[in-house]
Amino acid sequence: MMMGNTGEVMNRAEMEARLAEVDLTLPPPEREPERQYYFIRRLREWADHRKEELGRTLTANITTFGCQMNARDSEKIQGIMQMIGYEETDSNSADFILYNTCTVRENANLKVYGRLGQLKKEKQENPDMVIALCGCMMQEKGVVDKIRQSYRNVDLIFGTHNLYKLAELLAVKLLDQPQRKKMVVDIWEDAAEIVEDLPKERKYSFKSGVNIMFGCNNFCSYCIVPYVRGRERSREPEDILEEIGSLVRDGVVEVMLLGQNVNSYGKNLKNPISFGELLRRVERIEGLERIRFMTSHPKDLSDELIQVMGESKKICRQMHLPLQSGSSRLLQVMNRHYTKEEYLALVDKIRRAVPDIALTTDIIVGFPGETEEDFADTLDVVERVRYDSAFTFLYSKRTGTPAASMEEQVPQDVAKRRFDTLLSLVQKISGEKTAQAVGTVQEVLVEEVNDQEEGLVTGRTSQNYLVHFPGDGSLVGRIVPVYLEESKGFYFMGRKCVKK
Ligand code: 5AD
Ligand code: SF4
Repeated sequence: MMMGNTGEVMNRAEMEARLAEVDLTLPPPEREPERQYYFIRRLREWADHRKEELGRTLTANITTFGCQMNARDSEKIQGIMQMIGYEETDSNSADFILYNTCTVRENANLKVYGRLGQLKKEKQENPDMVIALCGCMMQEKGVVDKIRQSYRNVDLIFGTHNLYKLAELLAVKLLDQPQRKKMVVDIWEDAAEIVEDLPKERKYSFKSGVNIMFGCNNFCSYCIVPYVRGRERSREPEDILEEIGSLVRDGVVEVMLLGQNVNSYGKNLKNPISFGELLRRVERIEGLERIRFMTSHPKDLSDELIQVMGESKKICRQMHLPLQSGSSRLLQVMNRHYTKEEYLALVDKIRRAVPDIALTTDIIVGFPGETEEDFADTLDVVERVRYDSAFTFLYSKRTGTPAASMEEQVPQDVAKRRFDTLLSLVQKISGEKTAQAVGTVQEVLVEEVNDQEEGLVTGRTSQNYLVHFPGDGSLVGRIVPVYLEESKGFYFMGRKCVKK
């Protein structure tokens, strides 16, 4: 862990000071993150010069696909690009275009290929444009070869384990002349170290994702994540607490602790610590108002965590608890390590401790061998749990996973029919749940001024429901009581209350 003068995690000013100390007459340091600061400094000098030549700023357009993990990774990328001197844009003719990819389902890959095809024209018009790709899809076998063959306009490819090296790789691309025409590719099979203290940006000034662990050890039989994100690695609790402390000093009131399976946090640390204990420590951070986390794997969800949630004043009344299937038989083939009954018992236990908790889930339809009976079990669990919302997915075959070679793949029309049935049930229930909440007063963290309708702001309740209500920009980042007047299905219209 690199410390600033005050012994705390570095803020922006300290990072700038750090950058000013870099001596470019020396060779790059071996140690991280010092090495990356060296390359950021070199690139900044190059960028200053380039901006003068062009008589304009340099711009970066970063597009994120997939989950919260990727969203957080993109903030790290944005932080590095900003320190170099690139301004954020959403234009397709930016000087730096990056797709942070997802590969959980096949159509995510198809979207990226589509976008790369569309960029061919833009790159002809701006030959200086650097097109970069990173994220889970790049870690998948065969993808980089395909890009090398069919998308020669790509300049830079890196993976999920070496994102912290972006400045160094970009320096190879932009500053080492012989490489200018070549694609720079750096993909690692697995992670070497967790590098702390790189620049990070935040999309919102008042809330932030915080990685607590990386990778996944679960190998659910349909899922590609363990192959592209590597084995589970937890960050040291001190590093996490210091990062959150520094975020709070910087105006953050809500954090989302991120991991593929947060309930197994800390098991592999030299000094093991439980996720429940981590939450207790995060709760003690003064000034922090709200804590969220995702994702919870039902098999590892401990009684300790349920107790901590029951006692907490800051943990939001919301939990994402992926079901995947309601059929005990399929759950076993999926390698999920729980049965339908165990899942339902767990939900009961959570609701006893936190009665007003909002539960959300992920469900896959059309997993190989799924029968009408299996599907009926899924519907049954949905009816019993009554999720506040559910993400439903059509099973997508991912090469290399055990499920991909299973016989009895479900015909598309059957899967689609089941998907539609499930979706309408899920929607009906979440509509009923939101209707129940009408007439209550909820604490809402205001996130933004509504860009659809003037005079409205938008925020989220502890249960993560979206609420629009009359207000102005001065409310953004504040937690205010809001009366929920009307339910519109998946969001509410409300009215701000005067605090008693
Ligand atoms: N097909 C469909 N959905 C999948 N998911 C993961 N892998 C697949 C797949 N091969 C879903 C799971 C997971 C969510 C992030 O994506 O439901 O929880
Ligand atoms: Fe994929 Fe299962 Fe790991 Fe979630 S827990 S990332 S579904 S392997």
